[in-house]
Amino acid sequence: MKNSQPGILESIPQHAKYLFFDQAPGCNTADCLQRLADIVDGVEIVVGLGQSLTLKLGAEIPGLSCFTARSKADIDIPSTPAALMCWLRGDDPGDLLHRSRHVNALLGEDFVQSDCIDTFKYGAGQDLTGYEDGTENPTGQEAIDAGFLSGAGLGLDGSSFVATQQWLHDFNAFAALTTSEADNSIGRRLSDNVELEDAPESAHVKRTAQESFDPEAFMLRRSMPWSIPEAEGGLFFVTFGKSFDAFEAQLARMIGDEDGISDALFQFTRPVSGSYFWCPPMKDGRLDFRALQL
Ligand code: HEM
Repeated sequence: MKNSQPGILESIPQHAKYLFFDQAPGCNTADCLQRLADIVDGVEIVVGLGQSLTLKLGAEIPGLSCFTARSKADIDIPSTPAALMCWLRGDDPGDLLHRSRHVNALLGEDFVQSDCIDTFKYGAGQDLTGYEDGTENPTGQEAIDAGFLSGAGLGLDGSSFVATQQWLHDFNAFAALTTSEADNSIGRRLSDNVELEDAPESAHVKRTAQESFDPEAFMLRRSMPWSIPEAEGGLFFVTFGKSFDAFEAQLARMIGDEDGISDALFQFTRPVSGSYFWCPPMKDGRLDFRALQL
């Protein structure tokens, strides 16, 4: 996909930092975005814009919205909007620290950092429970079809919508499951990643089987584990799509909207954030803000 931010299509890096920003009162949003565009290559830094930012510029990006919080018995799905998200990707946490300082300095007092999540690749790309994550991700042309807008016009084609959700694991609850209970909660065997044919309806991969939706709900997941020194951690779930439709359909089924059955993942993990962003396309190696009339 020649005009997308290339980092979206690449596999996950060894380390990444997610920076979230709110606009400060009186923020000169347009100037800040141009300054940001000077340093964003779409590979080492991938940028997403929240709805409050695009509205501030008087622009409407068709399909961009604010993530809606949901509640079910025993399940809370929070919404934590932000104006701007920078995904810093790399191999070296020291390098990421310096780049995050650079981004903060560049945004000056116009934006206030509201959150920062340090993430990393675990093993060969596993969730912290040990299960391989990303196996059924589309690749090649299918990844492009699932992940990016096309036929939407100049300034929109090559752009992508990203949903981010920080999930906090209860490692004691997970450790209390037997091997078979844990395998059934995911719907795959930990030992060899083989999908279980007789997995219960609550199994995560049964809830989210992409081809079982109508229309099919394929998405480009780029989730990475996160942790903090207090021994807390989980999965920073990240999914890119040509719209938010696939994510919303998957999440609705995970919380039991369709049949009252909720995803077995909720036995040991829960989301503590939830945000939507639009990732602009690129033109001649620079972020393309034509859809924002900039
Ligand atoms: C803590 C949260 C989560 C964990 C630990 C987790 C873990 C996993 C694992 C281990 C797999 C199987 C391997 C694979 O195909 O990647 C998987 C598959 C999948 N997950 Fe998640 N996931 C989480 C949250 C979510 C959420 C919030 C969504 C969407 C709303 C989602 C969508 C999917 C999809 C689409 C698949 C592939 C299903 C298929 O077509 O076979 N996951 N996940």
